[in-house]
Amino acid sequence: MRRNLVVGNWKMHGDMRSNEMLLNGIISGVQELHNADFVVCVPNPYLFQARALLEKTNIHWGGQNVNQHEEGAFTGAVAPHMLTDLGCTYVLLGHSERRNLFYETNLTAAARFDAAIKAGLTPILCVGETLAEHEAGLTEVIVASQMDAVMATLGEQDFAQAMAVNMVFAYEPVWAIGTGRTAMPDQAQAVHEFIRHRIARRNPDAAAKVRIIYGGSVKANNAESLFAMPDVDGGLIGGASLHAEEFVAICQATNSVTASTCLAELT
Ligand code: 13P
Repeated sequence: MRRNLVVGNWKMHGDMRSNEMLLNGIISGVQELHNADFVVCVPNPYLFQARALLEKTNIHWGGQNVNQHEEGAFTGAVAPHMLTDLGCTYVLLGHSERRNLFYETNLTAAARFDAAIKAGLTPILCVGETLAEHEAGLTEVIVASQMDAVMATLGEQDFAQAMAVNMVFAYEPVWAIGTGRTAMPDQAQAVHEFIRHRIARRNPDAAAKVRIIYGGSVKANNAESLFAMPDVDGGLIGGASLHAEEFVAICQATNSVTASTCLAELT
């Protein structure tokens, strides 16, 4: 049975004062929720602040990207050990904004994924198609190519390491990000199932364990129906993660879906 996961991606938002209010709001809202994992991926300058506020709570923190190199003359880049030094356990990789605005590729995503797992970070690999690709019926082709670019670089030992750190996939249709347009639950389910089958071709046990979360305009009012889908193991939340009440409501939706799933399995 997979444990659901809700990840807030703050993107380039926040300052010391607003972060403190937001994190305190999230802490008090999720402290009694024990059926799922919760993560906030904050801008790098605020990781220290996140650690100070979150280290004795049930909320994890992580980075929004990481470089594949361990150190060196890479101005502006952050190495995996720098994230782990600050207590990060998760890192987003291959987000569509990194791909589209910062020219990152499947190749860089693969290199970063490898560096992240070797550092003991849990990578959250984002995959998803653009609107044009969606309308052309290319969703599975695009998602498969983004997944394969990473999976193909993993030897058996790397794959075992990726499982040991509980790698996560995030399906984020680009046309749903920040647009208010979200995939319908059955649309998301179909792609999540496709992702799981693709992992099963490599390793069926891994496929059953890997968490696949959905991102793209997830809000408090649509979270529960998305999370109720059998292959949707939680969400990657952008805009709504910047509002404590909204984010907590999404965390509650995950928690209650997980709780009812457990109950259904027992009865
Ligand atoms: P929104 O929730 O704002 O659509 O953003 C989704 C996203 O990009 C999370 O990584």
